[in-house]
Amino acid sequence: MSADTAQRPVLVVDFGAQYAQLIARRVREAGVYSEIVPHTASASEIAEKNPVALILSGGPSSVYEEGAPSLDGGIFDLGVPTLGICYGFQVMARALGGEVANTGLREYGATDAVIANEGGVLLGGQPNTQNVWMSHGDQVSRAPEGFEVLASTTDTPVAAFGSDEKCFYGVQWHPEVKHSDHGQEVLENFLHRAAGLASDWNSGNVIEEQVARIREQVGSARVISALSGGVDSAVSTALVHKAIGDQLTAVFVDHGLLRKGEREQVENDYVASTGVRLITVDAADTFLGHLKGVSDPEQKRKIIGREFIRAFEQVQRDLVAEAKAEGEPIKFLVQGTLYPDVVESGGGAGTANIKSHHNVGGLPDDLDFELIEPLRTLFKDEVRAIGRELGLPEAIVGRQPFPGPGLGIRIVGEVTADRLEILREADAIAREELTKAGLDSEIWQCPVVLLADVRSVGVQGDGRTYGHPIVLRPVSSEDAMTADWTRLPYDVLSKISNRITNGVRDVNRVVLDVTSKPPGTIEWE
Ligand code: XMP
Repeated sequence: MSADTAQRPVLVVDFGAQYAQLIARRVREAGVYSEIVPHTASASEIAEKNPVALILSGGPSSVYEEGAPSLDGGIFDLGVPTLGICYGFQVMARALGGEVANTGLREYGATDAVIANEGGVLLGGQPNTQNVWMSHGDQVSRAPEGFEVLASTTDTPVAAFGSDEKCFYGVQWHPEVKHSDHGQEVLENFLHRAAGLASDWNSGNVIEEQVARIREQVGSARVISALSGGVDSAVSTALVHKAIGDQLTAVFVDHGLLRKGEREQVENDYVASTGVRLITVDAADTFLGHLKGVSDPEQKRKIIGREFIRAFEQVQRDLVAEAKAEGEPIKFLVQGTLYPDVVESGGGAGTANIKSHHNVGGLPDDLDFELIEPLRTLFKDEVRAIGRELGLPEAIVGRQPFPGPGLGIRIVGEVTADRLEILREADAIAREELTKAGLDSEIWQCPVVLLADVRSVGVQGDGRTYGHPIVLRPVSSEDAMTADWTRLPYDVLSKISNRITNGVRDVNRVVLDVTSKPPGTIEWE
């Protein structure tokens, strides 16, 4: 990727469904940089971003729905290659003079699409009949003038169309989901064959570009990095360290909400592999003091986010005298914010603010640092690739995601030192057994949750108990935007359950969460 390509993205226009991020990732998997914009962006706002191509995402099931999201029609006059997907396909058909029939019917799930007119640029060379994944109500009944029909299904006469002259294409199905045969090929055909884009965006180039950008932003100033023990902060810190070396001091706040052994992993393994200068702050008592009596999850997140920053400000005060004596003061704070955090917090799309992720939405107003967020445009798998490229140990790069607010949002109810101790033990047992069974790569993450406000009757040893349940929440996912519960083998579940109920005090029940996302989120709070 050259700096030029970084500035000229493929823009994925988000109509508010879950699919925009997935599309953006698939585009990047094809080696082309992409960003998400809300459907409310005007043609001139889009033009300002100088996109190399546009992809209109899926959205609600009908363009005739009341309040259905619309698009500035001027976008089709920008002369930018455009691919419409599902809802985006119908919006495109209507805007360009085609017809969308309000059928009231719904086509959902796997369907056979049959290629017409040899498939054109988009589908040419693919099998004549392919299994694709549909989710729509209305259908395009007539393609706009000058467009060729490229595929149909039994229920949908126009399931794909294209105009080579305009470089406009559309498909009714979802090529971005893995259940669509040849889906990635459809996207790649659009990007490479139709729009003529090269496949030249990769992690090596991201590092080069970020290092240059960080050096420019920072100059000779000093920087503090928020190291949490998780992948994101480990990689962002290593990236900044690569850019500015000893101008960086990494600070690890032990907020008392960590899992067993995490502090040691940061203090020993991470420092050994990077050579980063590290300061650990013992802040458990302060955090717990502020969390006293608080049960509301959003409230907890805000407090933890705020105290995190306060802890850094304290360190800043301590370091500032030293920095002053030696040269530049400390002006910057590194954060491992990822692209999904930005998009979910409403910063990149018209999607609802699902949760205030503490590293984006919950920052206090009196923040005293300028932020460096080198991963702000990246997805998790891209961050891992960068971490590997930077030489970080697999134990850190391959780690399951762990939320910034830590175990604080895995206790349903008030967070106390005693409850944390219980959860920490249960979590360590679950992690140990999953690793032992070789299941780490199958699982995206496995939150272990303490239902501190719930009690149930049990019988342990000779007596009746009135203890708390522990919830296991193993999920499989590609990006945490959607997830399914992982079908763990019964013998592994049984071992975890036995060890927890036998070995962790006050816990007399282990339950398994079998909810997908949506409707459930991954974390319980
Ligand atoms: P949900 O629970 O929204 O989680 O399905 C999606 C992903 O985000 C993580 N998560 C958080 N990470 N601060 C974080 O840094 C938070 O407040 C937070 N809440 C959820 C969660 O672990 C999962 O990977």
